[in-house]
Amino acid sequence: MARAKTVFFCGDCGYEAGKWLGRCPGCGGWNTFREAPVKSPSKHLKASFLSVSEPPEPLVRAAAAPPDRFGSRFGELNRVLGGGIVPGSVILLGGDPGIGKSTLLLQIAADVADNVGVVLYVSGEESRQQVQMRAQRLGVTSELLYFSAETDLSCICRSIEEIQPVLVIIDSIQTMSHPDLPLLPGSIGQLRECTAELVRLAKLRNFACFLVGHVTKEGTLAGPRVLEHMVDTVLSFEGERHQNLRLLRAVKNRFGATNEIAVFSMEEGGLVEVANPSLLFLSERSCGAPGSVVVAAMEGTRPVLVEIQALVSPTVFGSPRRATTGVDYNRVVLIAAVLEKRAGLPLANQDIYVNVVGGLKIVEPAADLGIALALAASYRNIAVDRETAVLGEIGLTGEVRAVGQVEQRLREAARLGFRRLIVPQSSVDLQERLPDIELIGVRTVREAIDLGI
Ligand code: TYD
Ligand code: MG
Repeated sequence: MARAKTVFFCGDCGYEAGKWLGRCPGCGGWNTFREAPVKSPSKHLKASFLSVSEPPEPLVRAAAAPPDRFGSRFGELNRVLGGGIVPGSVILLGGDPGIGKSTLLLQIAADVADNVGVVLYVSGEESRQQVQMRAQRLGVTSELLYFSAETDLSCICRSIEEIQPVLVIIDSIQTMSHPDLPLLPGSIGQLRECTAELVRLAKLRNFACFLVGHVTKEGTLAGPRVLEHMVDTVLSFEGERHQNLRLLRAVKNRFGATNEIAVFSMEEGGLVEVANPSLLFLSERSCGAPGSVVVAAMEGTRPVLVEIQALVSPTVFGSPRRATTGVDYNRVVLIAAVLEKRAGLPLANQDIYVNVVGGLKIVEPAADLGIALALAASYRNIAVDRETAVLGEIGLTGEVRAVGQVEQRLREAARLGFRRLIVPQSSVDLQERLPDIELIGVRTVREAIDLGI
């Protein structure tokens, strides 16, 4: 049997040779040679090399005309993308099955087709009838929205060349296959090649491209991390399937800030953006219930007010339980320890549960004081005043520290009708500029708790 042709190369400096060598002539290293199969140049590579012919250009002249973004009907989406969709950019959209990825993209596609130009929607998962039914439900009428139920990348590329769309949607990248690769769709090699091909074509023909990506059980995007490196933007679509609320989050964005979120609600006729999420998060707030505190948090560049709920109850059996949803577990454990040591709350023999209402995840330490007060209020069974919101970071010695973007947070709180805010002492200077609300400065957690909570 003929042996597959192999080549030898130095693992340290990359020096290549036709046979194994004990000492590398390139770097002089001993025993550094490895063996690797010779890759026969595939048809695809030849075609790719020949078809890309974009000569180098002076960067400054190229940048003189900045890319014109085009907006979608969803102001929320535009904000998450950093001001709209950039032509030539590739955006990966991940999310659990059934969360609404196809719905969101069909709505975006229809809108862009109505206002900007030709859109190609490629589905490898659903048939034309299925997508037509969804389009009917969403009231899509645009004539410039083209649909193709296709999984072969070469056909898709040909369609793109033919209809010259401004936006291409691939639903999903896991179902696509590159005809030159003898691998199953969804395998790492296929994912990488298909994405690379689409990225290349998107840059060459200057169309924007959304790729739907499946997520694994652990909630990370399926496929190699390299996919995230290849695309310009990674969005993640989240939410509880049995609730209407959906959050679109930018995980990576070459054209804007990350950590922005857009809030949508899944209705009968598709996704509707929620312009004022604080109102929604606070709409079902329980009046006068102990253990509920509103914190003025930031999601990206936007302030949001969210309710944090805590439940503290004596441990009946075994070691105390701590469980959290929407806030960092370790942070809650740390805050409980600080409360125990610095504010004298005996929490060591109590079960602790902390929950952020509405499915939001709060990662910033500005919510620390809110969590602490919710725990204290639940432990003492006292309700926190309804018109009071809280912000501040807690240190290990029990001190309350300043947080960023205080003014924005306070203005949002004032706008939503809060009258009192418990803030770090250093932020009280802002009182002059905010006559509508009373700022109560605290230096330590103990001071905050002694305010009557
Ligand atoms: P879908 O976009 O198919 O999810 P994905 O592509 O992420 O798998 O959305 C599926 C869910 O959305 C489905 O459970 C029905 C619901 N839905 C609505 O509530 N309203 C609508 O107008 C549409 C089109 C879907
Ligand atoms: Mg889908």
